Amino acid sequence: MKARDAAFSIGPAKFRNPVFLASGPAGYGTEYEELIDLRRIGAVVTKTVTFRPRAGNPGRRLWETSAGLLNSIGLENVGAERFFAEKLPRLVEAGARAVVSLGAEGWDEYRPLLDAAAAAHIVDAVELNLSCPNVDCGGMSIGGDPALVERYVRAAREALPEAAIVAKLTPNTADITILARAAAEGGAHAVTAINTVLGMDLRGPGLEPVFRRERAGLSGPAIFPVALDAVWRIARAVDIPVVASGGISSVEDAEKFFAAGAAAVEVGTAIFYDPGLPERIVDALEARGAAGPPGAKPRKRRKR
Ligand SMILES: Cc1cc2nc3c(=O)[nH]c(=O)nc-3n(C[C@H](O)[C@H](O)[C@H](O)COP(=O)(O)O)c2cc1C
Repeated sequence: MKARDAAFSIGPAKFRNPVFLASGPAGYGTEYEELIDLRRIGAVVTKTVTFRPRAGNPGRRLWETSAGLLNSIGLENVGAERFFAEKLPRLVEAGARAVVSLGAEGWDEYRPLLDAAAAAHIVDAVELNLSCPNVDCGGMSIGGDPALVERYVRAAREALPEAAIVAKLTPNTADITILARAAAEGGAHAVTAINTVLGMDLRGPGLEPVFRRERAGLSGPAIFPVALDAVWRIARAVDIPVVASGGISSVEDAEKFFAAGAAAVEVGTAIFYDPGLPERIVDALEARGAAGPPGAKPRKRRKR
């Protein structure tokens, strides 16, 4: 099967295949161009950009656990102006398909960010980071409220009428399908599930919190079952595609996500120790010879 046979769409945006790099671990994408053939994968979801530059959180930001990684990056990024002028054009020049991750501390920052994205004229797919656990306001505090999810998605649809709008959801909620429904109601073309899972660790002789903010976001293999459960339930709750993120560490994990109903998968933490994984998933899709991802089931909407 040729790579183009695995091509698929999210709303108006077309992708060469359904294997993406998750927002964050790959930075602005080009950091990985020596290690990953960016032209072979479906898309790079860029590090979340906010309207103003952010220095990120002070103190320790990464901590390995026995089966995962805790991070407290705090949305460090160069801000919209530099991102749209330098980072995004550079990624596109490198031959990558970009999905731009947008984040905001609140409405006042969100509106100008949407305007900046619209003015850039090269943004045709965005992932709204409504789920970062490592900032005080914005992120998860927006993404945990279904009414705000709907409002933020609707505003993105209005500001970027020709772009694919994907809402990235937090698992740190009682029922993630409620957030997925809110995103669909707001007009999202797809949802991404999941962002990191809240956690913490203690260290040193006094067993003090590792992170200054105490809580951080857990990623990596430890959260794969949580993500699989979320994808399975969301795929049966809404009619829009689900992009799976969370703990992929093998081709088999990707196959399980597709079997659960995912339309695409994102590889995150695994690229720190296995940068070949995204291309091996593409290889597996191509070798399968079938159009579309393996095992993808028609989505059913459960009546409530
Ligand atoms: C170091 C690091 C930075 C991240 N930064 C972002 C980010 O800026 N925006 C975002 O939406 N998700 C971010 N994430 C979350 C990932 O995109 C992904 O959803 C999560 O880590 C689960 O997938 P994984 O287990 O494959 O890493 C980050 C994750 C890590 C480990």
